[in-house]
Amino acid sequence: TTRRKKIYEGKAKILYEGPEPGTLIQYFKDDTSAFNETKKAVLEGKGVINNRISEYFMTRLNSIGVQNHFIKRLNLREQLIREVEIIPLQVVCRNVAAGSLSQRLGLPEGQALPRSIIEFYLKDDKLSDPMVTEEHITAFNWASTQEIDDMMALTLRINDFLNGAFGAVGISLIDFKVEFGRLWEGDYARVMLADEISPDSCRLWDAQTNEKMDKDRFRRDLGDVIENYTEVARRLGVMKEMP
Ligand code: C5P
Repeated sequence: TTRRKKIYEGKAKILYEGPEPGTLIQYFKDDTSAFNETKKAVLEGKGVINNRISEYFMTRLNSIGVQNHFIKRLNLREQLIREVEIIPLQVVCRNVAAGSLSQRLGLPEGQALPRSIIEFYLKDDKLSDPMVTEEHITAFNWASTQEIDDMMALTLRINDFLNGAFGAVGISLIDFKVEFGRLWEGDYARVMLADEISPDSCRLWDAQTNEKMDKDRFRRDLGDVIENYTEVARRLGVMKEMP
C-alpha cells in the first residue's frame, strides 16, 4: 500500500489526501466513542457498515438534488469525497423526543414532536459541543444568515428523504445529525452536505417494537451494537457485497 498524507483524524473517521486536488479519502474506523470520548470501544466491522450505509444515502440524496461531498466508494472502508471547508456546526433534526432534548425539556423519550425541530451545536470537544442559537452563529461568524437558511432547508429535505427511506423498511427516524461544508467557486461558497449518515449519527427505532438500532445501543450498554447496525444495512438492501 502507498503512504498517504493524513489530513485529519477524528473519533470514527480519518481523512487522507485524495488522488486529485480538491479531493480527500474518507476512511471509516471501527472505533466508537460517546460522552465526549469518556466511553470508547472498537466495534469490529462498524466502519465497513457505516461506509456502505453512508454511500447509499449520499448517492440517493445526490440524485434528488441534495448535493454532497460523496464522489464514490473506493473499497470496504474508504470513499472518495470532495474537499470542503467544514462549517463548525452540528445540525440536529428531531422528529420524536429522545436523548438530550428529553433530558433538557423533561419530555418522555418517544413522544412525537409537534413538528420537526432543528438545533445547532458548536463543534468543540473542549466545550462538549454546546448548543448555540442563530444569534451566536452569526455574531461569531461561524456561518452567515444565508448559510443558516441553506443548512435548515437542506436538513428538512434530508429529513423528508430519510424518513421515507427508513419508514419503507420499518424503521422510525427519531432524530439525526448532519454536518455541512463550503465548496468555494471563485468568491462564492456553496453549502453542501458532508461527513456521514449512518447509525452512528441517527436515532433509529424498529417501527414495530421501538427497539433501538443505533449508537444508543453502545451509549447505553444495550449490547448487540453490530448486529443492529447490520440489520439496518440489511433492511436498506445494502448488504450484497458485505463480508
Ligand atoms: O444527544 P442528542 O439527543 O443531542 O443527539 C441528537 C442526534 O444527534 C442523535 O441522533 C445523535 O446520534 C446525533 N449526534 C451525533 N454526534 C454528536 C451528538 C449527537 O451524531 N456529537
